Amino acid sequence: MSDEGPVREHYAREGVAARVLTALRAVKGQDVPITPDTLAPIDHFHGKGAVATEELATLLQPRAGDHVLDIGCGIGGPARWMASKYGCRVTGVDLTPGFCEAACELNRLCGLADRVEILHGSALSLPVPDESFDRAYSQAVLMNISDKRGVFREALRVLRPGGLLALSFVGAGPVGEPYYPLPWAATLATNFLATPDETRSDLLAAGFHIVSLRDTSAEVAAALAPVLRQLETEGLLPLGEHVVTGEGAKEWRINAMRSLRDRRTSMIDALARKPA
Ligand SMILES: C[S@@+](CC[C@H](N)C(=O)[O-])C[C@H]1O[C@@H](n2cnc3c(N)ncnc32)[C@H](O)[C@@H]1O
Repeated sequence: MSDEGPVREHYAREGVAARVLTALRAVKGQDVPITPDTLAPIDHFHGKGAVATEELATLLQPRAGDHVLDIGCGIGGPARWMASKYGCRVTGVDLTPGFCEAACELNRLCGLADRVEILHGSALSLPVPDESFDRAYSQAVLMNISDKRGVFREALRVLRPGGLLALSFVGAGPVGEPYYPLPWAATLATNFLATPDETRSDLLAAGFHIVSLRDTSAEVAAALAPVLRQLETEGLLPLGEHVVTGEGAKEWRINAMRSLRDRRTSMIDALARKPA
């Protein structure tokens, strides 16, 4: 048994790539090149967008030629971004079939299909061989999975000795339940938030050595304060994750930012190493 059925239903969408392209061309013109940069306002499918992916990459430091795993890759924005900026090869795994289809189509249009591979599957049973990756990351995914230790065990299995795992996700806050609905969970049925301490013990129990683990709530809340004000007063920008998820995204995003501001959630990032 797992949380996966309701999570898959929460994210299920049809025709995602076509919607992304229609929205992008409506704003940037019919001849807009389809690249990781032009897609970036839409395809980094989490609160802080491409900036958060850049911060995660700074933590992970992928090297040219590395084989990197993206656990819960969404529609592939972060994977294409890492491959194009760092010259690595990325395999993305995601639970939601419509997102995997969209990711494959956008990889092809970006000319990255030979460097970014997408597999449909679960973080708890990764469809990849043992010790096949140099580095792995997971961004804005762990909130949907109760068995975080299981995810970390799978990451440990597929990393080579000495391999690195970088994480960025929403954690539990000290004050109480967040405001629902949220972008990743309409109700608490698909929301599984861990504290930094729980994350630390799950990583250690899975067999990782922790290089760093930080509660970044205060800095992320400060960075998002103007975005929250803009959403509350002016609404959604023409390009954003609502192109994928629909207009409900405005309420979801406001709830996510208010929950962080009011300490009902936290932001956690971590870097862990598989022992050599
Ligand atoms: C908020 S999106 C983030 C997508 C991507 N990481 C990004 O930053 O653009 C969360 C993603 O996690 C995926 N997901 C949730 N639970 C999963 C699981 N057990 N295994 C694999 N993917 C999962 C969802 O399908 C969704 O694409």
